[in-house]
Amino acid sequence: MPLVTSTEMFKKAYAGGYAVGAFNVNNMETIQAIVEAGKECNSPLILQVSAGARKYANPVYLRHLIAAAVETTGLPIVMHLDHGADFESCKSAIEDGFTSVMIDASHHSFKENIEITRKVVEYAHDRGVVVEAELGQLAGIEDAVNVKAEDACFTQPDEVCEFTEKTGCDSLAIAIGTSHGAYKFKPGQKPQLRFDILEEVGKRLPGFPIVLHGASSVPQDKVALINKFGGKMPDAIGIPEEMLRKAATMAVCKINIDSDLRLACTAAIRQHFTEHPDHFDPRQYLGDARAAIKELVKHKIVDVLGSNDRA
Ligand code: G3H
Ligand code: 13P
Ligand code: ZN
Repeated sequence: MPLVTSTEMFKKAYAGGYAVGAFNVNNMETIQAIVEAGKECNSPLILQVSAGARKYANPVYLRHLIAAAVETTGLPIVMHLDHGADFESCKSAIEDGFTSVMIDASHHSFKENIEITRKVVEYAHDRGVVVEAELGQLAGIEDAVNVKAEDACFTQPDEVCEFTEKTGCDSLAIAIGTSHGAYKFKPGQKPQLRFDILEEVGKRLPGFPIVLHGASSVPQDKVALINKFGGKMPDAIGIPEEMLRKAATMAVCKINIDSDLRLACTAAIRQHFTEHPDHFDPRQYLGDARAAIKELVKHKIVDVLGSNDRA
């Protein structure tokens, strides 16, 4: 099966009350871990690539690694551009064979967000590619996503109908209290998501696929391993998994996970070096990292997303 778009995937996910995992990929081991987990769980997958990933790995390498993932698994896989910053980035990804792109113009005014998104949608749809857009802003700091907590704002349900009608986008990322990175809540703060906003958006856009960014749960066993084996990540806190499960039964069809993969990878490598200070073959520690990421992705598919046996 060649790469697919998310259209059929999201229809089935919406109807089935589950979400498809969108995992960020930067290198071969992470891609192998995700697709091996997907294969064992018979789950559809979205492999997403950020601008930082394209810069790090070279788009040609990523494209071929993802082609290898498709060839070796036969799973329905979407190759998605994460946080496309402008029309040119989306165009370049489409030319590169991506079947789905995100245009993230959420930091522009409502009117400009519509104009920029509309332009990407026209270009993408003419080429059979689907488009994710964003309304509202998440807090968080990553390579390409840098929004201060005070500048973050929830999605306004009043705006979603006009936005989706005028842009023609295929899915919509909304801000309901998730954020990028490994520090989503302060210690002592009760993790909360605005399910009222999600519910209202779902009522206004029946059947329309909603996307959650910043949806890592920051597993505390991984944080503890990192800290035990020489790391320093105090107070790393994520979204409780039961909240993500609940969102997946609602209108959320795509859940983005990057930080959790990074944590699993880092914990495994730190542990490996502490336990085997004499090792210097990258296959040994990257092999451990790959196994840890695979185990984490299987857990997400089965216990959080509910996308097992849906491929
Ligand atoms: O939302 C951002 C993703 O976690 C990608 O992060 O820009 O560091 O590759 P990155
Ligand atoms: P996390 O940082 O919570 O993994 O979010 C990733 C994301 O939203 C990628 O677009
Ligand atoms: Zn994101």
